[in-house]
Amino acid sequence: MKVTLLGAAGGIGQSLALLLKLQLPEGTNLALYDIAPVTPGIAADIDHIPTSINIVGYCGDDPSEALKGSDLVLITAGVRKTVMDRAELFDFNAGIIKNLIEKIAEVCPKACIGIITNPVNTMVPVAAELLKKAGVYDERKLFGVTSLDLLRSERFVARLKGKDVNNVKVPVIGGHSGVTILPLFSQATEEEKLQFTEEEVEELTLKVQNAGVEIVKAKLGSGSATLSMAQAAARFARSVVKGLIGEDIIEYAYVEGNSGYTRFFAQPIRLGRHGIEEFLPIGKLSTYEEAAINAMLPTLKAEIELGEKFVNG
Ligand SMILES: NC(=O)c1ccc[n+]([C@@H]2O[C@H](COP(=O)([O-])OP(=O)(O)OC[C@H]3O[C@@H](n4cnc5c(N)ncnc54)[C@H](O)[C@@H]3O)[C@@H](O)[C@H]2O)c1
Repeated sequence: MKVTLLGAAGGIGQSLALLLKLQLPEGTNLALYDIAPVTPGIAADIDHIPTSINIVGYCGDDPSEALKGSDLVLITAGVRKTVMDRAELFDFNAGIIKNLIEKIAEVCPKACIGIITNPVNTMVPVAAELLKKAGVYDERKLFGVTSLDLLRSERFVARLKGKDVNNVKVPVIGGHSGVTILPLFSQATEEEKLQFTEEEVEELTLKVQNAGVEIVKAKLGSGSATLSMAQAAARFARSVVKGLIGEDIIEYAYVEGNSGYTRFFAQPIRLGRHGIEEFLPIGKLSTYEEAAINAMLPTLKAEIELGEKFVNG
């Protein structure tokens, strides 16, 4: 298996590269790429950690060498919210995603692709439309990485209820920003189903939706969530690679699935040898959760359309 990380010299990228070196299944090859010239040095540094993951770093304008033979490409390349307004950020990051996706379509068209670059709700439709244009789109292989919402939900529930975080499971559906993030506390478990009051559900939902903003504030505007995001992406990458090797794994991601709500929606998926083997049902929702979905739909639809229009005009 080969995993390629695009944007490897960034805040998320460097931590993610380190965690991939420690957490990917044995013998996986890892390629790091970033336009930053320091990238081969980052790879050399991490390479000294004695694990069986082989790591090579690439820089410059062309990611082709890093992409050759890749089974999973993770994209964290981009710029962060703190430096420009939303529209400028979108145009800038969409341009970067466009260049990278076009290269992936050319060099490793059968690879699974995990998009971390924000806004995920819009970047995934951008990538899907570009892959379609190139004639290589496979909805079983394109993912918006929403794992950080799951990690946060599990952590907050474990803390509130005094449970073992390793056993807490909280599905998170919808999208990956603001009101589109919907943790399903009605389906939360720790071996058994967990119970929440209405106030707890409201508080926890807002806490998960605003968690990213809280980190930016706590870092005094100088950065966003990078370390927890890196662990979330490492967990996601490990699941995809294990699936490709033949294990049966259930994950949540923002995909073009069968939710029936919007073209792209975060939902449960069964991973396997071809990427997504099965789009799984979301399950029974509480009245609160149904109302939250209805409330998020106009936002999510608009964010998806923005991505489609970026490519198709
Ligand atoms: N999905 C999530 O849950 C989540 C969470 C936090 C942040 N993010 C997003 O992830 C992205 C990266 O965040 P960060 O904090 O690591 O930012 P960062 O600015 O620290 O790093 C971005 C990296 O991308 C590189 N880059 C820029 N253009 C490139 C290109 N064309 N090819 C390859 N590399 C390129 C830069 O050189 C830099 O090293 C941002 O868009 C951020 O909003 C996503």
